[in-house]
Amino acid sequence: MYQAPRGTSDILPPEQRYWSYIKQTAAAICELYGYQRIDTPTFEDAHLFVRSIGEDTDIVEKEMYSFEDKGGDQITLRPEGTAPVCRAYVEHGMHNLPQPVRLYYMAAIFRYERPQAGRYREHHQFGVEALGDADPALDAEVIGIAWQLYVNLGLKRLALSLNSIGCSDCRPRYLESLKTYYTQHKDSLCPDCKRRLAKNTLRLLDCKNPACLAPTEQAPRSIDYLCPECADHFDQLKSYLNLLNLPFSLSHRLVRGLDYYTRTVFEIAPEGETGSQVAIGGGGRYDNLIEQLGGKPTPAVGFATGIERLVLNLKKQDVVVPALPPPTVFVAYLGKEARDEAMKLTSHLRKSRISAIASLSERSLKAQLKQANVSGARYAIIIGDDEVKSKTVVLRNMAKGEQQTVPIDKVAETFR
Ligand code: HAM
Repeated sequence: MYQAPRGTSDILPPEQRYWSYIKQTAAAICELYGYQRIDTPTFEDAHLFVRSIGEDTDIVEKEMYSFEDKGGDQITLRPEGTAPVCRAYVEHGMHNLPQPVRLYYMAAIFRYERPQAGRYREHHQFGVEALGDADPALDAEVIGIAWQLYVNLGLKRLALSLNSIGCSDCRPRYLESLKTYYTQHKDSLCPDCKRRLAKNTLRLLDCKNPACLAPTEQAPRSIDYLCPECADHFDQLKSYLNLLNLPFSLSHRLVRGLDYYTRTVFEIAPEGETGSQVAIGGGGRYDNLIEQLGGKPTPAVGFATGIERLVLNLKKQDVVVPALPPPTVFVAYLGKEARDEAMKLTSHLRKSRISAIASLSERSLKAQLKQANVSGARYAIIIGDDEVKSKTVVLRNMAKGEQQTVPIDKVAETFR
């Protein structure tokens, strides 16, 4: 027996209403904020991700699905959505458009992780990227989109954590101080952190290993090392968030798992929950990434949210999600002539944009009405010999059990 690969899932019909609820809510918010949809390929040149996400990150070190294709190219299945959007921005000369360019995506993401609840090897993200402006008002806008998404979905008790990790001017001084601090505590660090101490010190703040949590509590804070420009940017962002009534708390441990961030970083998680798979969304600024990928210097900010984690939280919080519309009509028949009429009528209904399922094969009326019930159809149409002769159908309201006779050529009209 074949099974879906470990860490992947089938999204079966009963689950689909969560997915369409989330996607529709997200698309409606993007429309409100003037963000346009972009779709990028499922796979890209492997170097794009190594360059963007950073060689010393978990994603690049351990989690990428990479392979050489038959033409000898190094390919990676998209492990995140920001780098491909930046690649597309540069490739299509989007710097010529009015800035910022506001884009959103919904895409499958692949990471070879240890699967557990809320953490999968294939997951899906909704994300937004606003490219071409450094104004902290744009950071506030992106955070506002995230927050409005969660509120509109009906999620409650969420917490927004915020930090600023500075820019290429002020970060080196901070990293020096962080390195000195962690070197003093090297013996108590986990093996990964010991190794990363020299090359990617910032990552240590993010380590979830219990051994590293205690030293990190007392570690130097990036906000104490910001240059005047970054400090001003962060102060403005905080005042905009207050202005927009977006509640946040500062978290000096928040650095995020990707190397491209500058200045603002943020994450949203259910209140009081900690751990590596609880964040439902996160993002930040990445002012150097587009230039690193060969574009002009272009400041940008974005965020992404995991759709599976949203589904988990909607269920956990018992949010009532609208059901997908059932078919309007189930067409039942008795006898061969009635069957031909049923086929013609079903086809006519669909052309008239009335959703219809036709009964198949010879079954008793009782069995067919049972099927109609299971299908969720609001009406059943019944055609028997008498109806064929009189060119009518019996139209039954399934919930009320009421029936009426309607001329067969007036059925679509009756529904409209
Ligand atoms: P990320 O924090 O790596 O950020 O992922 C965003 C969200 O995707 C997470 O908050 C989480 O909800 C979900 N997620 C991540 N990994 C998994 C997984 N293995 N299984 C299930 N859900 C997962 C990014 O990817 C950045 N590109 C976000 C961004 C956009 N930054 C700027 N613009």
